[in-house]
Amino acid sequence: MCGIVGYIGNDQATPILLNGLEKLEYRGYDSAGVAVYDGKHIQVEKSEGRLKVLADLLDNGKKLPGTIGIGHTRWATHGKPSDINSHPQVSNLGKFAVVHNGIIENYLALKEFLLKNGKTFVSETDTEVVAQLLEYYYQGDVLDAVIKVIGKVEGSYAFGILCEDVPDQIFAVRKKSPLIIGLGKNENFIASDIPAILNKTREIYRLENNEIAVIKNDQVTIYDLDKEVVKKTPCHIDWDISAAEKGGYEHFMFKEIMEQPKAICDTIHPRIQNGRIVLDDVTLTKEEIEQFKKIVIVACGSAYHVGVVAKYVIEKMTRIPVDIDVASEFRYRNPIIDDKVLVIVISQSGETADTLAALQEAKRLGARVLSIVNVVGSAIANESDDVLYTWAGPEISVATTKAYSTQLTVIYLIAIYMADLLGKLSQEEYQMYLKDLNRLPEQIEEILKHKEQLQYLASKYFNAKDIFFIGRNIDYAMSLEGSLKLKEISYIHSEAYAAGELKHGTISLIEDGTLVVALATQDILFEKMMSNVEEVVARGAVVLGLTTEDHKEMEQSATHTFYIPRTNDLMLASLAVIPLQLFAYYVASMKGCDIDKPRNLAKSVTVE
Ligand code: AGP
Repeated sequence: MCGIVGYIGNDQATPILLNGLEKLEYRGYDSAGVAVYDGKHIQVEKSEGRLKVLADLLDNGKKLPGTIGIGHTRWATHGKPSDINSHPQVSNLGKFAVVHNGIIENYLALKEFLLKNGKTFVSETDTEVVAQLLEYYYQGDVLDAVIKVIGKVEGSYAFGILCEDVPDQIFAVRKKSPLIIGLGKNENFIASDIPAILNKTREIYRLENNEIAVIKNDQVTIYDLDKEVVKKTPCHIDWDISAAEKGGYEHFMFKEIMEQPKAICDTIHPRIQNGRIVLDDVTLTKEEIEQFKKIVIVACGSAYHVGVVAKYVIEKMTRIPVDIDVASEFRYRNPIIDDKVLVIVISQSGETADTLAALQEAKRLGARVLSIVNVVGSAIANESDDVLYTWAGPEISVATTKAYSTQLTVIYLIAIYMADLLGKLSQEEYQMYLKDLNRLPEQIEEILKHKEQLQYLASKYFNAKDIFFIGRNIDYAMSLEGSLKLKEISYIHSEAYAAGELKHGTISLIEDGTLVVALATQDILFEKMMSNVEEVVARGAVVLGLTTEDHKEMEQSATHTFYIPRTNDLMLASLAVIPLQLFAYYVASMKGCDIDKPRNLAKSVTVE
């Protein structure tokens, strides 16, 4: 997630900006920069790489004199990590400098408009479009220009803006990306998050959507889009730094579980334009898709579990055969791959050694490689023919949650897109899938409101020695992910099984009190799952049933039942995974485990 800091007061701005950006390093970034008004002009210093690179360029804050400035740590979404793509981004005439957190969904159309109106661009970023648009609309009143720009841009954003003509003011705007105003004595601040300014002030305003702050060193005025002044009450922050970095939550994992609705919005909205799916600049024509003999999905861990879901989803929609493989097996099995095969590589970090090696093997054999990656400019992204980024933002906790969920939504987009091109979907089905996809964030929000139910269940079973997860079809794929989440953060032994397989061996392990998590969301298989629930109950199992709210009969057999909202069967994985994440989290929390950094594990496994 990008980090924004701004300062206006009587002290030198640069050291304060650097210090604030350091406090935001935990958010993950790939470049950083500052813009400071030096009494005549806005001066910018920015660079790819760690904050230390920038601090060295600034001689640790001694350079770039001035008492008003904005700073930024960038988590690349549009445009690879580079000096020129770093923020602040500046308008052609140097009148505006902008830092931005979020995604401008319609930046390409706006860029085209500006190019036609004589603007030139130096970066690949959506943020530069904002700086140029401000200069385009500016006719002497910055607030007017800002309001005009807000009327044009679509997406999520928090902006920090300097204008050379009003060097005693910082302008800040918020829509869906958090932005706070820090209130000091003859000095004021802006920041994406509290840790950046906690050592300076504990009094803040939280900007709401479509509010614009005009910040002077001794006055903060907040306007709505009608230029009406908005009355705000300051809030006092009593968090310590550690709590503040996690947004007040105890662990990054919980924060990232809660961020999933927004992460999914950020990932799907830019790819649904006027009711049609647009896969960024990925060209997958009907002819190319018809050429594919099969699709092979390769990944590790939870990313592999996304692949297991993807097999059901893509085959059901497109009727193209889909093979799935863990990367460490794929690369040594002399895979049957040629130029008529599409290989989809899934990776949060984009640096997993086994997955990267599998990608290279697939390319060597002639396959077309499309990767789904969360880190822009990562090795896997760079070596793929096409990349569809998940825009989950940095995922700090070792156990993946929001990256997993956004990977699923990219799979849905690809499947619907290809099925449509192949004529496998009616327009009604196409729109139904889009409608269900767009509803996922609010349905996840609904599930998250019932997180205490999972907390209660965890309190009853966190001392379990073995926990089994069973399911059929997509529910089997979810069993794999639920089991891994539990194992990797609570260290409880767990197995995931295709429910139909129980009678072929595993059921011998079921005895009095064994906890079985039975996933039964797939409508067409509900009755069969109920038989499997009966089987294990008959042998003494305690069953936690996970099903949709229209299947209340689960309560007749299961000891406990957790309901999720109904959507089409193919997208239920996105809803079923939420209680599984929460159950694992609460169990691990009650066991006192190191949730964000589980023993023996790394966030990115860059060794074989
Ligand atoms: C998931 O919670 C684990 N941290 C792990 O299985 C992870 O999914 C796997 O290592 C793949 O990582 P990647 O997505 O960065 O390639």
